[in-house]
Amino acid sequence: MRQTPIRIAITGSCGQIAYNLLFRIAAGDVFERPIILHLQDVPGMESKLEGVAMELSDCDFPLLEEVRLTTDIHEAFDKVDLALLVGAKPRSKGMLRKDLLAENGRIFVEQGKALNDVASRDVKVYVIGNPANTNALVAMNNAPKIPRKNFHALMRLDHNRARSLISRKAGVESRFVKKMLVWGNHSNTQVPDFTQVEIAGRKATDVIPDIEWHRQEFVQTIQNRGAMVIEKLGRSSAASAANAVVDAMRSLYMPTPEDDWFSSAVCSDENPYGIHEGLIFGFPCRSKGDGNYEIVPGLKWDDYIRDKIEKTEKELLEEMEFCKSEGLF
Ligand code: LMR
Repeated sequence: MRQTPIRIAITGSCGQIAYNLLFRIAAGDVFERPIILHLQDVPGMESKLEGVAMELSDCDFPLLEEVRLTTDIHEAFDKVDLALLVGAKPRSKGMLRKDLLAENGRIFVEQGKALNDVASRDVKVYVIGNPANTNALVAMNNAPKIPRKNFHALMRLDHNRARSLISRKAGVESRFVKKMLVWGNHSNTQVPDFTQVEIAGRKATDVIPDIEWHRQEFVQTIQNRGAMVIEKLGRSSAASAANAVVDAMRSLYMPTPEDDWFSSAVCSDENPYGIHEGLIFGFPCRSKGDGNYEIVPGLKWDDYIRDKIEKTEKELLEEMEFCKSEGLF
């Protein structure tokens, strides 16, 4: 029997991240079932949208059942099961993520309202456009009919960067690195938590006993990686960001292996770590593979990690207050 298609909206479909993302989704890298894509971008991009659709058609992907093109956000979100909110003004050289807040925040007010009006009642929403955590917060607070648990901001790029760096330092393939975890905000206050990581079944801090390497080089490299890519490339990361979205989706729609978890920024309501409620905060998560997740409880923080987590929490609280003062929710 033919499976029901999954409807996926992608905003900013003419941008670099989407260009690296939607062909992988259409090829079945995440869902091995029929796929309907709703590709959205802003007015003026109609011709580019058509070009993207032509290329999709030319790939002759067996699972791709239909492609809808639109510049209307309500049409884009109509009955979708999954919304990947990629479109936003990107950070340019020298710009802080916060500078983007006011500008991008308004886009996410409109998108939250549209999701609330027309998306599937159980739509899963993934925010990629920066500042991702607070954009997700704005969308969530403008979509009261959608469960707050369904909103995510992308922490997977940080998670992947951290796994890659630590596996190279340890001289092992990254598949041997488990329990990587990035707490908090997708910004330079994020907390890549090396204290939880296991490398081939041993604690990462035993495999790499140089604690200063973890605290200085590892943490700071991961915290500043996005800015470094912008510095070198002259634009924000795109291929690695798209790859991280694919990995994040696979983590949500495939069962998490027994000995692992994944990082996602999700709503902190009733979280088991005493983080202020109502934020979108990076936590360790596990999924049964149905698109839902649980936050992994019971991890212990040392003083170093606790101090860093307090800083990233404070930053997110400030961003939330800023949004409120701007009337975004
Ligand atoms: C990244 O992490 O590469 C992106 O989110 C770009 C940025 O602004 O940091």
